[in-house]
Amino acid sequence: MAAIRQKTTAFLLTEPHISHTEGMTLPNRAAVSRREYLKAAVAVGGTAGLAACMEELDADEPIPTGGDSLPDRQHAWNDTLAVDDGNDIPPKHHVLRYVNLTEGVGPADAREPFADALASFTDAIAWGPEGLLFTVGYSPAYFDRFDESLPESVDLPAPRELPGPESDVTLDEVDLVVHLASDRPDILLVAEEGLFGERAEVNGVELPDLDGLFAFPEYDRRTGFVGAGLPADNQDIRGISGEPVPEEAPFFMGFRSGFAESQPTEDRVTLTEGPFAGGTTQHAETLDIQLNAWFSQENHHQRVAKMFSPEHAREEMIEGVGENLGSATGVVPEAMEDLVDKARDEGVVGHAQKAAAAREDGEPIILRRDFNTTDEEQAGLHFVSLQQAIEDFVTTRNAMTGEAIAEGSGVGPRVNNGILQYVFVRNRGNFLVPPRELQSMPTPTGTIE
Ligand code: HEM
Repeated sequence: MAAIRQKTTAFLLTEPHISHTEGMTLPNRAAVSRREYLKAAVAVGGTAGLAACMEELDADEPIPTGGDSLPDRQHAWNDTLAVDDGNDIPPKHHVLRYVNLTEGVGPADAREPFADALASFTDAIAWGPEGLLFTVGYSPAYFDRFDESLPESVDLPAPRELPGPESDVTLDEVDLVVHLASDRPDILLVAEEGLFGERAEVNGVELPDLDGLFAFPEYDRRTGFVGAGLPADNQDIRGISGEPVPEEAPFFMGFRSGFAESQPTEDRVTLTEGPFAGGTTQHAETLDIQLNAWFSQENHHQRVAKMFSPEHAREEMIEGVGENLGSATGVVPEAMEDLVDKARDEGVVGHAQKAAAAREDGEPIILRRDFNTTDEEQAGLHFVSLQQAIEDFVTTRNAMTGEAIAEGSGVGPRVNNGILQYVFVRNRGNFLVPPRELQSMPTPTGTIE
């Protein structure tokens, strides 16, 4: 098992610090499309990334101003999203910032300035994909420093390796993670500069100085994108030959995802009891995707069988990237039952079919907010999910792993077992996303003195 706590470099905010993704440089502008260039600017980050974004986008385009009253739930994003065919369209660009409190700085020291900074942002920038959406989540390691424990109403275990073919998973135990999302890459970078860099104002709103409060682990910045065209534009990475990713695909593996009927409501994933009622738990993991193998070893029929179900392939239910599905995958209740028998008969079982077996009362129990990445020049997915309890993620992930299927049929632990032959978990972490009033350095009891 890899290191439990990521090494912390004592990078204080006294050094202007929006960390750059190690080794990333901006591509030659003339050699790439606009979409690819903007995505690269987010991945590079910092002042260089922001300058590139501003130059590329109309620098005069104003950042929409905020100031409206915001939902009590930090994770209440859906009402702001565009809807297509009944499906919520996620923001296009994302950054996850992993942050520690500097040694010697306690939550009580950071609470007020951080709260002020977050409030300033929501005053300055509109809440929504045209502006900025964000959540702040706190890890079990953050809560460990207090004498009190989290209440029973919060299920937030330390991250761990899960059953199935996993190895070398880095377990993220930084104090907090900030998930920033926007359709506009320049706004993401402005937000990062305001929170973790040297920017002192946005849209005329002054930002408090957070100097010295935060320290950054070695790998503190995970970036990505989602939406038709972006994966195709960003497939020119290590190990991928040709251009296998279809232009219309919003995700690297070539299919639409996040259909309305395979996502729960925000209500379903919200804590209903205790001091953190109105909050949720967040799981964030990175999966490397062996994209070249996925496209070269399989044809459309096989990919459909492994991603959805053998029946989807046989009945030719998926055209192209799956636009024709509307708002539901068409995985019917019968397709989720007796998976071991089905695997024995068919010799293959689908990812969506297995994951849907974790539904409760017909509704999925985790809300996926995942996005593609090319961090470290590796095609992958930052899988972010929200659920009432981390156990709901574990239940769903175990369904995806399908251990009983692997033991009871010719389907292997990876081979023909959904997409497991092609995806490898690199790191994972668990966090509590408190309701907005407790979003800055909460205590485990939810009382802020
Ligand atoms: C590279 C990795 C992954 C890819 C490309 C992927 C892709 C997909 C696709 C195309 C679907 C069907 C369409 C839809 O979303 O409605 C789906 C469904 C789903 N996936 Fe994944 N997925 C990945 C990893 C994961 C992981 C790690 C989990 C967590 C355990 C997960 C959980 C689910 C769930 C819960 C559903 C919906 C099942 C239902 O209909 O109830 N997926 N995924």
